[in-house]
Amino acid sequence: MLSVRIVGPGRAGRSLAGALVDAGCDVRPLLTRHDDLSSAAEGVDLLVLATPDAQVASAAAAVVPVAATVVLHLSGALGLDVLDPHPRRAALHPLAPLPSPEVGRVRLRSGITFAVAGDPMAATVAELLEGRVMAVDDARRGAYHAAACMAANHVVALMGQVERVAAAAGLELDAFVSLARAALVDVAELGPAAALTGPAARGDEATIAQHRAVLDPEELAGYDAGVELARRLARSAPRRARRPVASHGEPPTVAEPVVLRQARTFAAALDGERARGRRVGLVPTMGALHAGHAALVERAAAECDTVAVTIFVNPLQFDDPADLAAYRRDLPGDLALAAAAGARFVFAPGVEEIYPGFPRLPATTVHVSGVSDRFEGAARPGHFDAVATVVAKLFALAGRCRAYFGEKDFQQLAVVRTLVADLDLPVEVVGCPTVRQPDGLALSSRNSRLGPDGRRAALALRRALDAGLADLGSGRRRPEQVRAAMWQELCADVAVRPDYAEVVDARTLEVPAVLGGALRLLVAAEVEGVRLIDNDGIVLEPSGERWCPRRDPRGDHQRALVLAHGDKER
Ligand code: PAF
Repeated sequence: MLSVRIVGPGRAGRSLAGALVDAGCDVRPLLTRHDDLSSAAEGVDLLVLATPDAQVASAAAAVVPVAATVVLHLSGALGLDVLDPHPRRAALHPLAPLPSPEVGRVRLRSGITFAVAGDPMAATVAELLEGRVMAVDDARRGAYHAAACMAANHVVALMGQVERVAAAAGLELDAFVSLARAALVDVAELGPAAALTGPAARGDEATIAQHRAVLDPEELAGYDAGVELARRLARSAPRRARRPVASHGEPPTVAEPVVLRQARTFAAALDGERARGRRVGLVPTMGALHAGHAALVERAAAECDTVAVTIFVNPLQFDDPADLAAYRRDLPGDLALAAAAGARFVFAPGVEEIYPGFPRLPATTVHVSGVSDRFEGAARPGHFDAVATVVAKLFALAGRCRAYFGEKDFQQLAVVRTLVADLDLPVEVVGCPTVRQPDGLALSSRNSRLGPDGRRAALALRRALDAGLADLGSGRRRPEQVRAAMWQELCADVAVRPDYAEVVDARTLEVPAVLGGALRLLVAAEVEGVRLIDNDGIVLEPSGERWCPRRDPRGDHQRALVLAHGDKER
């Protein structure tokens, strides 16, 4: 365990102390520069000087050198010479604003970049904090720090000017913050030159003159400096994208998601997103991602500011160890799909991270009674306890968010909704329509285990649902009639071994005595030893003498999504 002493109980020192404690380090009580620092380097692996820049050299000089102890400062501007006379010197500058020890503690562990120099200990600390390492030697320190201040401070100061100018016209800042956020996203994606828009980029001098005429004279210097920077950018660089742009038919290159392996880092990253005012979307998966998962991520990306996909093959959900071992794992493929669909983070923990001591089971598990008990719950005892347990853990780590689940696993969705409601979890559960192949087969990672004959036979599930829907559309209201129509279709193919076919209340999953309102038709069968499930919904409303079916358009296989990259279903 790394032992650390920090001098400087300001925002940076306290943020780092908290983050290092969270990362499992032994952090000694903080010292101030007014304490006797002579023995501060004794008995620790790392001494951090987190004082203001002007006091780093005097603090370093006050400490008696210890050969094995690394002395490190947090300044972006200073070189290593200020740490004289210590033999092992390092610098670690977090590229992140630390407005308070509380925000800083979280932000330092949310995948930020650290500029490092000197002893390799600096990179070790950055990695402990799950950050990215950028080596910046003394010769480039000045330019590095100037760029960092422009990115962090000048942008904020500019927004202060935006606030004043908008307020003078009675306008609120919020809309302009959204505009700035979108412009920064473009900068990240395209580079500054290609992201630049507006009158200076277009050479529209009349509009610039109009702005100057209405601005408070005190704002003109700042405005003119901005215009000059924009003109210079427009002149200096050809307006091209920094990232490679899609050529004919090729998908565009997309940003790699940040891959997180530790539960605490995942939690910290999402805390950091919320601290920046971003709404978090969560897509829990077991990997082997296909177009159905992509639809969940895309919807989350459309509705939230940042999307995290979790990939964890939950061993508790498998009653057969061979089944668990055979479960398809393809992290590189999953990352590419998650990135293309808009994920910012992928949390891919090992089993020990989620279940310390596995195969010993956790002392606490979650059972959602009632809705878990029938159908899949009856066929796979303990399955929904395993789902509810892991989902509860993921929700606890993720914090306040919107979580997206496919309606394909309709009973699972009902279990998760009940879990969230009963435990008052700060999660909004969003159910998304099943994605189907053009012939109606619901996408599932299990389909890849079917041969060509099994693939054909599997369509019996869709036919059974259609038979049930047709029965309801023609006015049948008794559950046993609808069940019989579905069962008949499932039994029509000898390759299909039906398990259940039922029509239930969409909310409670109970079979109503008389059919009406929002209903769900559920089917399950085994084909070539592979358990397949499917479902579809209908809302029955009395309208005079007739009952009117209402189908969800994306659940309607006539309008099924054609897979974007050929048949990539796994
Ligand atoms: O639907 C799944 O992939 C899993 O059951 C879930 C919800 C990720 C829990 O492991």
